[in-house]
Amino acid sequence: MTDTSVYAPSAEFVKHAHVKGMEGYRALYQRSLDHPEEFWGELAEKELFWFEKWSSVFEWHPPFVKWFAGGKTNAAYNCLDRHLTTPRKNKVAIVWEGEPGEQRLISYQELHRLVCRFANVLKGRGLKTGDRVIIYMGMVPELPVAMLACARLGIIHSVIFGGFSAEALKTRIQDLNAQAVVTADGAWRRGKEVRLKDAVDEALEECPTVRDVIVLRRTASGVSMQPGRDHWWHDLEEGISEQCPAESLSSEQPLYVLYTSGTTGRPKGIVHTTGGYLLQAVTGMKWVFDLRDEDIYWCAADIGWVTGHTYIVYGPLAAGATTMIYEGAPDFPQPDRWWRLIEKYRVNTLYASPTAIRAFIRHGDQWPNGHDLSSLRLLGSVGEPINPAAWEWYHRVIGKERCPIVDTWWQTETGSTMIAPMPGAVPLKPGSGTLPMPGVVPDIVDLHGKPVAANQEGFLIIRRPWPGIARTIWGDPERYKQQYWDRIPGVYMTGDAARRDEDGYYWILGRVDDVMNVSGHRLSTMELESALVRHPAVAEAAVVGKPHEITGQAVACFVTLKRGDWNHEEVAEDLRKWVAKEIGGFARPEQIRFTDALPKTRSGKIMRRLLREIVTTNAVTGDVTTLEDLSVVTRLAAQHEED
Ligand code: PRX
Repeated sequence: MTDTSVYAPSAEFVKHAHVKGMEGYRALYQRSLDHPEEFWGELAEKELFWFEKWSSVFEWHPPFVKWFAGGKTNAAYNCLDRHLTTPRKNKVAIVWEGEPGEQRLISYQELHRLVCRFANVLKGRGLKTGDRVIIYMGMVPELPVAMLACARLGIIHSVIFGGFSAEALKTRIQDLNAQAVVTADGAWRRGKEVRLKDAVDEALEECPTVRDVIVLRRTASGVSMQPGRDHWWHDLEEGISEQCPAESLSSEQPLYVLYTSGTTGRPKGIVHTTGGYLLQAVTGMKWVFDLRDEDIYWCAADIGWVTGHTYIVYGPLAAGATTMIYEGAPDFPQPDRWWRLIEKYRVNTLYASPTAIRAFIRHGDQWPNGHDLSSLRLLGSVGEPINPAAWEWYHRVIGKERCPIVDTWWQTETGSTMIAPMPGAVPLKPGSGTLPMPGVVPDIVDLHGKPVAANQEGFLIIRRPWPGIARTIWGDPERYKQQYWDRIPGVYMTGDAARRDEDGYYWILGRVDDVMNVSGHRLSTMELESALVRHPAVAEAAVVGKPHEITGQAVACFVTLKRGDWNHEEVAEDLRKWVAKEIGGFARPEQIRFTDALPKTRSGKIMRRLLREIVTTNAVTGDVTTLEDLSVVTRLAAQHEED
């Protein structure tokens, strides 16, 4: 595939699109740059409800920014209450299917009722604006209910992906000094129970700030409940009031903290606030997902990641959409579960990761071909670069060459899509996120911040703050400044490499730092290395990403063991379990290789670049003059040949 394969939107798609043709896109984009205050101010008034209007659209004191300062709003009010005075009150807000097959259709009115009830439960536990609540659940409707109940009261929620281990959960609870945890007994995944409450119990042994644990009964498999601390969700809701006014909150009130991996062993608590975040979430629903009121919209991510926050919960509900949630594994009980869901619920938009698409390619075309997918009109991709073969398959087998594919580039820190096509306007090039969204000013520069020529690789940066940008790292504004704004002073450093072609299209090449992307999930090499060296047998470890056919990258570890007589196979197996316990099953190493020493610079820094070359090509090229012991590299490369 070359850059010259271009797919223009069909006349039929353009006819109904929110933004029509390149002139439509260009006019929007140009206005957002020329008159940002008017542009975002008008949208904020049109798209969101405010208890009180703001005094300024944005205040930029690099690297910190405020949007709609002085304005008072509430995310839950925007997602629920304001729809109740419109015909949307009886519209389905959430279509949910459990992995075992149960179905729930929850209207906006009903969702409002559920959220008010649970907000009163939280109030009843003494929780208030500014407190922190951890949400550790599977993909059940009560997960967005808990998020919105927190948002209603100005309680900062932090959803921890249900695949994280007790250890990972513990460090996040401690970082936030959270007051309460909302969880479930378990969750269904591929026919098995994920024992969530057990993990919470283990984590809480060292989390003295947590006073309350609220447990939803989902699997009913039996869990231990600690008197005084643990309460069943349904018990606390008994006789509770269904009236709970939404708090009038500052536009800059933190809405949530979401942890993501950085370049050190310590995860970063990315802080998102209310007004600006919500505005970009809701506008993206129209611009990128071309949302129509009658759509059944399905973002197949997990709510534990940012994609689920913005494009399952806040964006769709603020836009009054019908958002679908499926609890379980894509291939359970058979590899056609997704296609069955699309046929059954007549899904119009599917937003998924390239990893999921590649896994389906492997299962074979007979699975999607056995279902009627004619309701689909738009497809989306997110989380990692989509390779041309996967793009083509998605386009042909799922979209029947009829559905545009919106390849959306963004990050936990950006809050919503940044580089993505407006599907009725921008011609697509497979593998490219295409052009920037309104208000987003990206550039490709060298290490000194100098723009590079067309088609040259460089660092992807963003020049101006946008409404949904993360405001800080929880408890560590200095790290926020250093990590994103100091490397090239005054601009936001994304950590990605990219190039821009002669048409201005962006092509993302991957991370330039020690962050890996496994199945579209960010993992830090340092976090994995710290987990490995905590194992009693390990003296030293280095971790790199290894190209992988399905997951994009896989975890490859180089390990030096302490002195002793080790059975390598047994230790490797034990280390895999150890990583799953320390971080989560999704971080389990694919490859573990033992070595007497690791390649290092004279100053003692592990040369991961060389290790990356070894796992990728098995050849070591480039500069190795700083290597203390070149023979180590040669030995590792030789060992690779034997594998
Ligand atoms: O490297 C980019 C990659 O995922 C990183 C952000 O990861 P995370 O914060 O976990 O958010 C993922 C979901 C928004 C980016 O720095 N990435 C994300 N989307 C794309 C992508 N790479 C290429 N193409 C994309 N569409």
